[in-house]
Amino acid sequence: MSMMGWFSDALARVRNPIKALQSCCSQHHYRIQNDASVSSFVVSRRKRQNADSTSVSVVSSSTSLASVSSTVVTTSSVATNTSSLAVSVSATGSFVPIPTPSSGPAIPGVFPATSPKTPPPVESPGLVPDFADAWASAYKKATAKASLIVASLTLEEKVNISSGTTERCIGNTGTARGFPGLCLEDSPLGVRLVDFATVFPAGINAAATFKRSLIRARGLAMGQEHVGKGVNVALGPMMNLGRVAEGGRNWEGFGADPYLAGEAAYETILGMQQAGVQACAKHFIDNEQETNRMTESSDVDDRTQHEVYALPFLRSVMAGTASVMCSYNKLNGTYACEDAHSLTRILKTELGFRGFVVSDWGATHSTAQAANAGLDVEMPDSRFFGQTLVAAVEAGAVPEARIDDMATRVLAAWYFLGQDSPAYPPVSFDARDPLNEELNAHVDVQADHDALVREIGKASVVLLKNARGALPLKRPRSIVVIGERVPCRATVARADDGGGSDAAPARVAGPNEFANGGGVDGILAMGGGSGTANFTYLISPYEALQRRARQDRTSFFWFFDDANPRGAAVAGRGKSAALVFLQSWSREGADRPNITALHAGDALVQAVASTNPNTIVVVHSVGPLVVEPWIEHPNVTAVLWAGLSGPETGNALADVVYGDYNPSGRLPYTIARALANYPAQVSTSLDIPYSEGLNVDYRHFDATGIEPRFEFGFGLSYTSFAYGALSIRDVRPLAPENDRQLEESWAAGVRGPMGPGSSTALWLHRAAVEVSFEVTNTGSVHGTEIAQLYVRHAPSSGEPPSVLKGFADVALAPGRSKRVSIGLSRFDLSVWDAVSQTWVRPAGTIGVAIGASSRDFRLNGTLDI
Ligand code: BGC
Repeated sequence: MSMMGWFSDALARVRNPIKALQSCCSQHHYRIQNDASVSSFVVSRRKRQNADSTSVSVVSSSTSLASVSSTVVTTSSVATNTSSLAVSVSATGSFVPIPTPSSGPAIPGVFPATSPKTPPPVESPGLVPDFADAWASAYKKATAKASLIVASLTLEEKVNISSGTTERCIGNTGTARGFPGLCLEDSPLGVRLVDFATVFPAGINAAATFKRSLIRARGLAMGQEHVGKGVNVALGPMMNLGRVAEGGRNWEGFGADPYLAGEAAYETILGMQQAGVQACAKHFIDNEQETNRMTESSDVDDRTQHEVYALPFLRSVMAGTASVMCSYNKLNGTYACEDAHSLTRILKTELGFRGFVVSDWGATHSTAQAANAGLDVEMPDSRFFGQTLVAAVEAGAVPEARIDDMATRVLAAWYFLGQDSPAYPPVSFDARDPLNEELNAHVDVQADHDALVREIGKASVVLLKNARGALPLKRPRSIVVIGERVPCRATVARADDGGGSDAAPARVAGPNEFANGGGVDGILAMGGGSGTANFTYLISPYEALQRRARQDRTSFFWFFDDANPRGAAVAGRGKSAALVFLQSWSREGADRPNITALHAGDALVQAVASTNPNTIVVVHSVGPLVVEPWIEHPNVTAVLWAGLSGPETGNALADVVYGDYNPSGRLPYTIARALANYPAQVSTSLDIPYSEGLNVDYRHFDATGIEPRFEFGFGLSYTSFAYGALSIRDVRPLAPENDRQLEESWAAGVRGPMGPGSSTALWLHRAAVEVSFEVTNTGSVHGTEIAQLYVRHAPSSGEPPSVLKGFADVALAPGRSKRVSIGLSRFDLSVWDAVSQTWVRPAGTIGVAIGASSRDFRLNGTLDI
């Protein structure tokens, strides 16, 4: 067939030439915005290397595209075979960059959904969702000439959209003609400062489940509650890493490993936005401690930034997050909210983020610098934006195009989630005036989310020790729960002044005694600060365990005075089991002064263990604790690490203690033998070099040979599992020709492309290798194994000894086996090359290790890629 012939044929086959060109363009990160304006193609033949190719000129009837077509979009080369049309665009220019490559329906590994309301199924974590069309259509609406258009707004109106105010929400954007403004509301674990909403288990517990399905479901349920209350932007998830064990906000996030945090952020956002609320990935970036958080500079090298701290944000962008919050701290000397390198270069260019950047509350420090750097919305007021920004534009310090971009991004995010629909619920609360009957409709959004809370609660309990089969309890004759009863005041400055009976309900004033979790009296079920929500109930271990114990006619006792270890020892004497409850609380704005249990909790355990040979320790903690004072005590038979699991804390614990649920939680951070063993500690310096580089958490312990007490990824079960039959195969989908070239260059270690969306490009993220293996339940009870995959690069790569790059939860009846597959993308196998500024395959053999923790490898193999 002649070239012209096949081209017409190809066009006929795809039926819509514009779509064909759009689709192929978008594979290369560019998209024609207005297809209606393109009236025809001019096709001419050209010989290029060994392949025939055809030039395509776009002839457009619209002024904007006409000028583009004559000046920029001059040619595209088109090649085809019988089944597909592949086009590579050779020109760039005024095309709009898109964040993810096209979802041409024929591209395997891509989920061709175009709306955040229909995310890819959680069962197929390797499918790369393509939100390009949804963003394009949202942008089109935001800029369209019809109703609500950026072009029709005055400068003041546009700036108003970018200027914060506080109305009924924790932050509101300004309004404009036809745009009602956005309600921004915390938190990463529920709707903050409202009634009749659910407190979900904290982010750290979501991560500890290592279960994508639960993380996604939590995101969805939280999203539904935010939507139900009329919130437009839910201020979460929070994905800063547990770089320092004492970090006061570590509990809000997803642990200390960038891959785990990235996957948890990804699933959470897919769930939240499926419900219709805009997610806000926070805090961008390097906000890993609370001490001096408004003034310190986190000094991070480029490779570490890309591979460690930006990774959760990259995954958030891939999940289609509508907004990102820049952080309080400085980065390498520049405030995060006015740092062009991170905001415009990394986030908006490399990652291809199309939503808006909002400052953390009070994190804006300048007008022109912040605006030009890429900040789109100031919160919670308009100290630097508002009229000051209008004046800056008028003075020529900020181009008006930047203001258009800001407003477009905010409007596009609103359209992206379909929040322009008249059916979107209006704000039905006043976060600052909850008793004002006119402003609070008290909408109940809890639905049946308590069941999910309990499910996540039990799936996030990590069994760290279980000697002599102490757990699960088997109809014991008697048990005693021993906790602490020292109410703390919200005004305490130091986290270790906090307290309360971790086994029991609050003594004085119920679960919301301290506003914003600013203190704790009783069972610890969340931390403090903006990452909180109001409880509607809270079931303590004392209540749940007593109820459960009576089913077996177990005698049930309690002792709630930690200041009296002698009394605790007496209380423990003669009981079949003594459960001792420890806690460690922290809040936003302050780091933990140490990582020991509050209230001489160690002494309490030792006292009880001195009289009771079956002492079971339960820890509710915001992060790691040093457990050395008692972990090897022969009478401490079991340890349960239960985190902060919300209102069903007691029930979730009882489920595990009694074996109604076989523990499957895994540590999302390492528990060291001493604080000094961690790679970094909280610093009071205003310059904090992240000198451990890539070696955060377990990677440091592996690299230095330091023995942790319990390593990242560790957790026991009431059953046992065996691994076998490892198989590794290349995934060779029918990639478009151009992708194949990229893949081949990548395999040769050649630098990849750099440009808009290059770090989130399809060819990089589509599965390249499938690692599969068999897991068998070799014990006698049903259980869930969390199989983990670690990649091991050659030492010359400069990578840590092993890095988590996959996990799967495998539920198995006794004696049963299941084949598990984990896909690895080229991105998963790449390192960031700071010189070429691209993702490259490091030289040398790439190994994989499969196992039950970061140190318990059961299968090893190498990749042939
Ligand atoms: C926190 C953010 C929060 C905001 C609004 C800030 O202090 O750092 O995480 O979303 O307040 O409450």
